[in-house]
Amino acid sequence: MRLLITGGSGLLGSNLAFMAAGEGMATHAAYYSYPVKIAGATTFSLDITQASDVFQKIEKIRPDIIIHTAAITSPDVCEEDKDLAYRVNVTGTGNLVQAAKITRTKFIYLSTDLVFNGCFSFYREDDTPDPLSYYARTKLEGEKIVAANSKNYCIVRTAVIYGPSIQGGSFSEWIIQELKEGKQVPLFVDQFRSPILVTNLARALLEICRRDITGLYHLGGADRINRLDFGRILAREYGFSEANLSPVAMDDFGFKAPRPKDCSFDISRAKKTFQVRFLGAKEGISRLKELEDEGYSEQLRGALHGVRPQ
Ligand SMILES: NC(=O)c1ccc[n+]([C@@H]2O[C@H](COP(=O)([O-])OP(=O)(O)OC[C@H]3O[C@@H](n4cnc5c(N)ncnc54)[C@H](OP(=O)(O)O)[C@@H]3O)[C@@H](O)[C@H]2O)c1
Repeated sequence: MRLLITGGSGLLGSNLAFMAAGEGMATHAAYYSYPVKIAGATTFSLDITQASDVFQKIEKIRPDIIIHTAAITSPDVCEEDKDLAYRVNVTGTGNLVQAAKITRTKFIYLSTDLVFNGCFSFYREDDTPDPLSYYARTKLEGEKIVAANSKNYCIVRTAVIYGPSIQGGSFSEWIIQELKEGKQVPLFVDQFRSPILVTNLARALLEICRRDITGLYHLGGADRINRLDFGRILAREYGFSEANLSPVAMDDFGFKAPRPKDCSFDISRAKKTFQVRFLGAKEGISRLKELEDEGYSEQLRGALHGVRPQ
């Protein structure tokens, strides 16, 4: 099976490419500004906003499946630079979908729990989206483009992704780093989501490829949890004092992009369909620690040599 992963230098895409290549899949991973090398995979640069580049590279690779993880993922950056957000998250997605149509390539699109307004809990796939931020609007627009133009697609809405990355700064990496440095870590008590370990999500995405799963799925961790409680579990697992975690309210932060209060998932559709088991926060964090102890995180970073262009 020939796989093309966009966002190969990002948190999800790098883990996915590393795992897919490790399983012997013919893996092609695209980066944009952060060149990476992945053991067993072919990596190359791609700007998804450039239609001709997208068509040329997809035509050349002729992948069986595209997993589109690339995006401008910071809600505040999207709010401040709407043009960039639209070009990458909407136009870029459209370019990939059109190219995939020509090569009859299955399309897996990563979307977000932030498409919901957060007035409820445990969102299901048939609940009506109502995005609060420009980021979430562009991701939802991407969903619509995929559904309208692809004959063989899977849309995966996911939640806060945590775990090892090459560029650093995932939610768990940030907390651990701050605690290591003895800093006080402010964590929201008033936002509830369903965080998922990156390798757990990557396994589920590879299952979509293997079993040809289609449709719309909410793939998150098994727990609805706020960031402070997540931080507490993490601190305990890594042997740090919880005293360095401070409860804060999201509203006090004055973010550029509005954020929903509760966009936790109901993952019952995923549980019925997938063989992969979706881990709760405690299990996911203890698996994260195991991955580090087993040397996974080091191998990931070792296999992926990021070099920032001068
Ligand atoms: N992280 C989360 O908590 C979360 C939660 C819900 C949904 N999601 C969704 O899950 C997906 C993966 O998120 P992530 O956290 O892994 O993303 P990420 O770490 O922020 O990585 C984003 C990727 O997009 C690439 N990119 C940016 N502009 C590009 C362009 N013009 N052309 C091609 N590639 C471009 C980046 O490349 P360079 O780094 O090389 O520039 C990077 O590889 C996204 O679609 C996101 O919307 C993420």
